[in-house]
Amino acid sequence: MTKIRALLYLSLLCLFASVQCYRGHENNPFAKRIKARNLRRASIFQDEIQKVEYSPVYIGPQDGLKEADKVESLPGQPDGATFDQYSGYVTVDPVAGRALFYYLAQSENSSSQPLVLWLNGGPGCSSFGTGAMMELGPFRVNSDGETLSQNKYAWNNEANMLFLESPAGVGFSYSNTTSDYVTGDSRTAADAYTFMMNWLQRFPEYQTRDFFIAGEDYAGHYIPQLAQLILQNNKITNQTVINLKGIAVRFY
Ligand SMILES: *[C@@H]1O[C@H](CO)[C@@H](O)[C@H](O)[C@H]1NC(C)=O
Ligand SMILES: *[C@@H]1O[C@H](CO)[C@@H](O)[C@H](O)[C@H]1NC(C)=O
Ligand SMILES: *[C@@H]1O[C@H](CO)[C@@H](O)[C@H](O)[C@H]1NC(C)=O
Repeated sequence: MTKIRALLYLSLLCLFASVQCYRGHENNPFAKRIKARNLRRASIFQDEIQKVEYSPVYIGPQDGLKEADKVESLPGQPDGATFDQYSGYVTVDPVAGRALFYYLAQSENSSSQPLVLWLNGGPGCSSFGTGAMMELGPFRVNSDGETLSQNKYAWNNEANMLFLESPAGVGFSYSNTTSDYVTGDSRTAADAYTFMMNWLQRFPEYQTRDFFIAGEDYAGHYIPQLAQLILQNNKITNQTVINLKGIAVRFY
């Protein structure tokens, strides 16, 4: 029963995700307006980031959470997976009650391979429903809607793939403060940064690992902005320095 419900949620998530993620970038009468708005937003962000001063970010207790996040197997998963999976929530703002959902598909030789944070765009596109389950994750949902099959081209063949649902309100990420659902690029970057700082406490083995950020579509905004925040904070933080090595963006 729980399995069926989980799959139903998954299917709905994929359906919702495809609406959010593949909006028809061609022949879109709003495309020009969206582009202009995004350019305007990007320049506002530039102005904002100049003013940012570093203050230590919230780090919650992470003890025991890694073990609790271990996924033995997904419903309908084929036998013989040779890699580990984890999934759960990371609180980024305990006062508002804001938490971001992640799914980690480790590579087979996890300790010798880099960590890649994957972000879908939208805004509003689920990195789990779309990125992980329809694009580059280890599994695809079969047409029976009940079982999964292996994705031969999964990126976790080469790297530890961390799929993040961002910002709160997207996919399984949420806030207990409804007004948080009206948000913008700088909060999105700040939350993703706080997420990483906490996640690296939960998974300390990744703290010095080569780290990359990759994604597509509106993540063409999220990624450079997060990268800039990481580089800026790395210079002045007395918290964890994130070992950012590179970014990759697929932009329409
Ligand atoms: C670094 O840590 C010290 C001691 O915990 C604190 O007083 C200081 O404000 C911190 N500096 C920054 C830039 O966060
Ligand atoms: C949001 O509220 C629920 C219900 O009170 C609570 O269980 C949960 O921990 C809260 N989430 C966060 C991130 O504080
Ligand atoms: C992991 O390492 C082993 C031993 O070096 C190798 O045989 C195997 O092909 C590697 N797996 C992947 C997915 O790279």
